[in-house]
Amino acid sequence: MVRAADLAYRALYRGVLSRLPEQAAISLGQWGLRTLPIDRLPIFRNADPRLAVALGGVRLPNPLILSSMYYDTRILYRAMGLGFGAVTTKSITRLPRPGHPRPNLVRIETAEGSGFVNCNGFKNPGLEAYRAALAALPRRGILIVAAAGESVEEYVDVVTGLAEFADLIELNISSPNTRLVYESSQRPAELGKLFQAVRAATAKPVIVKVSPDYRQTNEEAIVPAALDAGIRVVHCGNARRVEEPRLSQRAGGLSGPALLAATLDNVRRLRDRFGADLDIIAGGGIDAPSKARAALAAGATACACFTGFITRGPILVRLILDELAEGRK
Ligand SMILES: Cc1cc2nc3c(=O)[nH]c(=O)nc-3n(C[C@H](O)[C@H](O)[C@H](O)COP(=O)(O)O)c2cc1C
Repeated sequence: MVRAADLAYRALYRGVLSRLPEQAAISLGQWGLRTLPIDRLPIFRNADPRLAVALGGVRLPNPLILSSMYYDTRILYRAMGLGFGAVTTKSITRLPRPGHPRPNLVRIETAEGSGFVNCNGFKNPGLEAYRAALAALPRRGILIVAAAGESVEEYVDVVTGLAEFADLIELNISSPNTRLVYESSQRPAELGKLFQAVRAATAKPVIVKVSPDYRQTNEEAIVPAALDAGIRVVHCGNARRVEEPRLSQRAGGLSGPALLAATLDNVRRLRDRFGADLDIIAGGGIDAPSKARAALAAGATACACFTGFITRGPILVRLILDELAEGRK
């Protein structure tokens, strides 16, 4: 049954979704997630208790996290029912943002497989509207609320306003599509102040999501500043900044399997350097069971995916969890 669902989605992706113009494929995919009650099918879940992990002191039923991309709470609710150990909201900002104009997402074929380049630019409804949306979200899984901003005050406002709905909070300091956010990694002293201010603003566990483009600064300054502030979860990492003339911004964030080698290397280096002080989420390029296993073997506490959820479909969750459960026997 699982294998049949895997083959069926591969055929759907190859035959239909990957042939539609990107925007039409996104709309169709999101319509499907909003309206089709696929979460009622037990096929997607693996409730093996041996899969449970602790992340920032919070128990996740399994270590697979849906990465930040969706703000629609109907989709987040559905994803919680598709077997993920936790799901992450889109990065939310203080005021609503329309995002960058289209084209803001294109497919890319790399030697490692299918990925995307996006310049989404934090399209989101803003803090006030999102407070109302999260208040109405029935909870059936662990929720990571992601915050972004262009000043310490903006991050603190978003965190303060949304913390009550979150099991964990993720600070996005690494999106390649918003200059002030992306370039904040060049100012680690300011990031240190941000971490202290956010730590003081909430008792919830905080995750810092770092960029694969700033490996050395992450290791030498950003992760130490997070630990100093009492933040002990790092998500490495976000999409990688690349030039892309097809996008409205002529550049964007590369996601998908081309990121995997750097993700594994970064996880290993962070684990070696910081030992058990740090919980690490491996993100970037995890689109197959063997890749999730490799991320955990490299030292990650949990792993996150977005591109794989699109290119391999919701059945990827079950495939990954089955393989991880097999490894824990
Ligand atoms: C269209 C799109 C929108 C995204 N929006 C966000 C965002 O709002 N905040 C964030 O931290 N990451 C965002 N990401 C990055 C993903 O969460 C993830 O970190 C990245 O795609 C690498 O993982 P992957 O290779 O599994 O896709 C976005 C990625 C895509 C493709």
